[in-house]
Amino acid sequence: MKILVTGGAGFIGSHIVDGLLTAGHHVAVIDDLSSGSRDNLPPGVPLHVVDIVDGQAVRGVFERERPEAVCHQAAQMSVSRSVRDPLFDAQVNCIGLINVLDAAAAAGSRRFVFASSGGVLYGDVTAPAPETTPANPVSPYGITKWVGERYLKFYAIEHGLAAVALRYSNVYGPRQNPHGEAGVVAIFSKKMLAGEPATINGDGRYVRDYVFGPDVATANIAALTRDVPDIQPGSLTSLNIGTGIGIDVNELEAVVRAEVARVLAARGRTARLPTPLHGPERPGDLRSNLVSAARAGEVLGWRPTVAFPAGAARTVEWFAARG
Ligand SMILES: NC(=O)c1ccc[n+]([C@@H]2O[C@H](COP(=O)([O-])OP(=O)(O)OC[C@H]3O[C@@H](n4cnc5c(N)ncnc54)[C@H](O)[C@@H]3O)[C@@H](O)[C@H]2O)c1
Repeated sequence: MKILVTGGAGFIGSHIVDGLLTAGHHVAVIDDLSSGSRDNLPPGVPLHVVDIVDGQAVRGVFERERPEAVCHQAAQMSVSRSVRDPLFDAQVNCIGLINVLDAAAAAGSRRFVFASSGGVLYGDVTAPAPETTPANPVSPYGITKWVGERYLKFYAIEHGLAAVALRYSNVYGPRQNPHGEAGVVAIFSKKMLAGEPATINGDGRYVRDYVFGPDVATANIAALTRDVPDIQPGSLTSLNIGTGIGIDVNELEAVVRAEVARVLAARGRTARLPTPLHGPERPGDLRSNLVSAARAGEVLGWRPTVAFPAGAARTVEWFAARG
């Protein structure tokens, strides 16, 4: 199958590209490289360096590539930037999405998978939230993910696309940007490998559901390619992608620290890792957020395969190998 991945040079997108190539599909990528990197892509994958806000350029790529399916990962994904600059957030996450949907419909694409977010839709929940949990997004980023799903449904009905929104929990793993505000595993790995202490916001008792990037890629590949009764032309299927297991930042820091110590020892470096610092609370941070992916299991046969300590080990090793 020919599949176009927007944001394919980013963290999650590049794992999707890898998985699609391994499964024997043809892949092309749209990415403006604002946070992604060419280095994340295997050689030979066509990369169109295009901003999705530029509708004409997006249409041009679709006319050339004519993908049967589209995987839309490109987004403005900083919650705090969305709060500071809601207009920019809406340009990329709404106008950009509409440009991609329009071009997909015009090029005759049949399936469309959209990266949504369970974290920002469900708010504070102490038990794994199913998809039926009322959406209550509070940040502009959350609002554009929610509106994005409504646009997806409109295009599905109007143009006969088979649409799937995958609502990720907190995704982590190799290739995640360690300089962003999210991606605490990447941020802590990079800091501790450099011998610096991690900074924990507030008391660190913020519970999240951490799902490994390559597992999220597997869910996308199933949603893009599997012939299943729930994914049909003219309809939208929204599915949570997460583990349902909550870990707080204090526990996470301890796991990453142990993995960093192990990796450094294996390289003949015995480092005394500094204890973490505690910074101020981040205003508006949810206390607890986790999703139930039971429905993704029923619809796609998807289940997470990498538990947190093993995924943290692979993430630390990846950062250690890159200095
Ligand atoms: N990482 C998470 O925990 C998480 C959780 C929920 C949802 N998501 C969603 O998953 C998707 C992928 O996120 P990620 O973590 O891989 O982030 P990422 O920043 O690594 O990937 C996003 C990619 O999109 C590209 N991009 C950004 N703006 C663009 C534009 N205007 N035109 C073209 N390309 C553009 C970036 O260069 C980057 O390669 C996003 O839609 C994000 O909102 C991520």
